[in-house]
Amino acid sequence: MRGDNQTDSPEDPLVNEPAENNQRTAFYSDVVAGLSQDQKTLPCRWLYDQRGSELFEAITDLPEYYPTRTEVAIFKQHLPAMAAAIGSQAHVVEFGAGAGTKTRLLLDALTAPKSYVAIDISADFLASSMASLAAAYPALEVISRVGDFMQSAEMATMQLPEGNRLAFFPGSTIGNLLDDEIIAFLRSVRTALGEDGQFLIGFDLVKSEDILVLAYDDAAGVTAAFNLNLLTRINLELDGSFDLESFTHEARWNDRDGRIEMHLVSGRAQTVGVNGDLFNFKAGETIHTENSRKFKMDSFIALTAEAGWTFKETWTDDKGYFAVALMG
Ligand code: AVI
Repeated sequence: MRGDNQTDSPEDPLVNEPAENNQRTAFYSDVVAGLSQDQKTLPCRWLYDQRGSELFEAITDLPEYYPTRTEVAIFKQHLPAMAAAIGSQAHVVEFGAGAGTKTRLLLDALTAPKSYVAIDISADFLASSMASLAAAYPALEVISRVGDFMQSAEMATMQLPEGNRLAFFPGSTIGNLLDDEIIAFLRSVRTALGEDGQFLIGFDLVKSEDILVLAYDDAAGVTAAFNLNLLTRINLELDGSFDLESFTHEARWNDRDGRIEMHLVSGRAQTVGVNGDLFNFKAGETIHTENSRKFKMDSFIALTAEAGWTFKETWTDDKGYFAVALMG
């Protein structure tokens, strides 16, 4: 088993890598910290390497995964009303470089949007997605900001264009955060946008457990592959020895916390190495890899109010599966 934190050891090969490998070092320290806990856990942001991002794209098309198509349908039906409420000449600020379907739907619906600011941690991803957006919207000023919008201090001090500022955060990605992270993030966005700023945000709603579990454990096994890819990534990037055959994907509804949890379940007692550190697993022990919150409307309104936001309008689908709110 791993002993004390070894990341500051001069012999540690990961620490001696040059600065461009900071990401790898951060991954390593998250893995060591997460696998050292009683309930083993890994932060969900590490699910999204190239392969993980491709698998997530595939998830959004699955018949069981209702959030993406439901949210797109809400946009298609209600964008004229949303655009009227948002007003003209908006400066749109999106978290995580979007430029996908929903971004384009919004930009097409808005009256004379002035600029689109994309904030993302990946400079490469920003460069490619913003180039295609700039080509498609020649009248729009397209601005890339490399940064971690989850770092509240970084976000709160971000310089944004003056005027009708609109934060845009579709996809219910807010649901992958814990409550205190949600409040910190929403507060920092409020600080960055100022008192007159508005926020168009998508969030997923509580529904029957069967529908929720299937959405995160699809028949084709794409979500299982997405979850298990995290172990492949540890094997490849951190010299891990996970036996992929002995771990299975599990999607669990946690009723108390109102969330779907993804876990990786060890099918047997085993010891796994990561960069020379050893971690023991009991049979049936899990690594908790993601939370996906499903909100009740009232509790989401209360949570956002704690961060200083007020609901102006809300749009949902006929089944009440998903919601998009404009907050000010
Ligand atoms: C990115 N995020 C909103 C997805 C979700 O539904 O929580 C990630 C995901 N995990 C498994 N399937 C999709």
